[in-house]
Amino acid sequence: MSDSYKIKHHGVETASNQSANLLLSEVMDARFSRRGLLKGSGAAGLAGVLSGSFAALAEAAPLPFARKPPQLGFKPVPFGFEDKVVVPEGYIAEVLYAWGDPVGIKGNMPAFKQDASNTAAEQAVQAGMHHDGMAYFPLPLGATGSKHGLMAINHEYTDDGLLHVDGMNNWSADKVKKAQAAVGVSVIEVEANGKGWNVVRPSKYARRITANTPIAIGGPARGHALMRTDADPRGVEVLGTLQNCANGQTPWGTYLTCEENWDGVFVNNSGQLTELEKRYGISAKDAGYNWAWEDFRFDLQLNPNEANRFGWVVEIDPFDPKSTPVKRSALGRFKHEGATVTIAPSGHAVVYMGDDQRFEYIYKFVSKHKYDPKNRKANMQLLEEGTLYVARFDADGSGQWLPLVHGQHGLTSDKGFADQGEVVIKARMAADILGATKMDRPEWIAVHSHKPGEVYCTLTNNSERGKDGKPGTDAANPRKHNLFGHIIRWNEANGDAVSTAFKWDIFVLAGRPDADKEEHKGNIHGDYFGSQDGLKFDNNGVLWVETDVSTSTVNMKEYKGMGNNQMLAVVPETGEFRRFLTGPNGCEITGIAFTPDNKTMFINIQHPGEPADERNDPAKPLAISSWPDGPKAGRPRSATVAIRKLDGGIIGS
Ligand code: FEO
Ligand code: CA
Ligand code: CA
Repeated sequence: MSDSYKIKHHGVETASNQSANLLLSEVMDARFSRRGLLKGSGAAGLAGVLSGSFAALAEAAPLPFARKPPQLGFKPVPFGFEDKVVVPEGYIAEVLYAWGDPVGIKGNMPAFKQDASNTAAEQAVQAGMHHDGMAYFPLPLGATGSKHGLMAINHEYTDDGLLHVDGMNNWSADKVKKAQAAVGVSVIEVEANGKGWNVVRPSKYARRITANTPIAIGGPARGHALMRTDADPRGVEVLGTLQNCANGQTPWGTYLTCEENWDGVFVNNSGQLTELEKRYGISAKDAGYNWAWEDFRFDLQLNPNEANRFGWVVEIDPFDPKSTPVKRSALGRFKHEGATVTIAPSGHAVVYMGDDQRFEYIYKFVSKHKYDPKNRKANMQLLEEGTLYVARFDADGSGQWLPLVHGQHGLTSDKGFADQGEVVIKARMAADILGATKMDRPEWIAVHSHKPGEVYCTLTNNSERGKDGKPGTDAANPRKHNLFGHIIRWNEANGDAVSTAFKWDIFVLAGRPDADKEEHKGNIHGDYFGSQDGLKFDNNGVLWVETDVSTSTVNMKEYKGMGNNQMLAVVPETGEFRRFLTGPNGCEITGIAFTPDNKTMFINIQHPGEPADERNDPAKPLAISSWPDGPKAGRPRSATVAIRKLDGGIIGS
């Protein structure tokens, strides 16, 4: 989801963090070092192999990739101005799974209706809207093959202008039900035949998780007084997950989906917002979804604790369609972008997470118990217990992970933290007290697939950095009015993800070399870009970067001439960015998954056809884009795209 959507439709202040944490700008000059600080972090062991996301299930077979830096072999594509997906010569991109396609439940596979007249019940067994993070799991469980698997795919939010025949006119409880059925997660079975990838239908794995699917509450917030509602007096089960942005994937074969802009569906128009509500961006107006008027669960005057039950990372077992997903509260409550999992040399599971709002923080979770490749059942509890940390980036290039532990460092009852449950529910406020560094909107986090402990995070942009009354620049966020964003990198001490100390540098400042203003020029070597968001290493050591320039800005203003949103590849050891893909009009590029052999890449095209005000007019749904179905169809559709090399080679080579 782009920035301006949050501002316009969420109707909230653009930064909820009013804490008085020390600003590093008061200490030192900005650091523009691209990679001076970081030296190689040692040989890659098991932990390194496991740190790549989908490589996670690879304990049965070694990966076939050399540990030396790869070379990019494709010819870059130019900026994109066409209503299509453009990939380099020698590659093919094919739509696999678009909004409205049946998920594949036996006996219940309604086709998409181009006029958007599918009912709420039909939508609940079809692909949701606005595909975002996703992961590929080889079938069967524990396999490492690349021709047959499951995919879990997030559906982040809805454009109600497209979702209903007449958009938001004649608003009704049925429309709310359909919208609630169009968010959440899809689990689909996919297979490659000689001609490309297909969704297997029907499939015993096919599943939709929506805003109304029962989900257990785990971790320290389970049963907490702040989690109890009239419908769930014990505070142990919540209906649904929503605003599912980026994701994670565990080595034990589960999917992590992350609740980001959940505040946007809640309303408290009592005129009295609590401190907790304010800190999380809740306001008297929702973001334009209009759920609270038809489904009182989202009216915080009537259900004051319901909002506390959102803002979590949710763990899903895609191999068991009957399993109950779990909100893993030990990982903290905020506006979660993603949840990137790595296994430390000691065997502890470590999860890196960004809180995507201006001036919010970067977190990591370290499990109490250790990963055991032979005990999936025990691994399924690893995210229940552990230590949550928040990052402080110091001006000298060092950094600290600060523990959010009840009873320590001021996280005590007199400060409003009665127990660890309250610490995780109010994680942002706990992080304020610890003095974490306010970042330029942390989005995805990627762990280097060959260097344990080397981690990258996209900071997409922050137009308010340095504005009157707002935090100024600091070493880790060195530009005022940061319209293009940057990518920050840290190396955990000893290459060990459980370390509480790290060294950091700025991997790249995005921008355009031809900008009028110095502050927008950046220092990209190669093809240029801005507002980077999706970020993932393949298991060949190539870092893939996807952009989400908001539709109110894309190819306009400071981004004029840069075309539609794009995807690039970079080998960190060389630092050269090469443009690999451009998307159709009005879209964001997001979601990245690979088959273990790295010969298929899956990406998501989110919100093709989105206008600058970010909601379509149902009378003119094709005004901006008719991707992927063409101008004779009814609506543009978000979709998962499978990309292959025509010669069957490794993507990027
Ligand atoms: Fe859903 Fe931060 O993007
Ligand atoms: Ca974004
Ligand atoms: Ca995002």
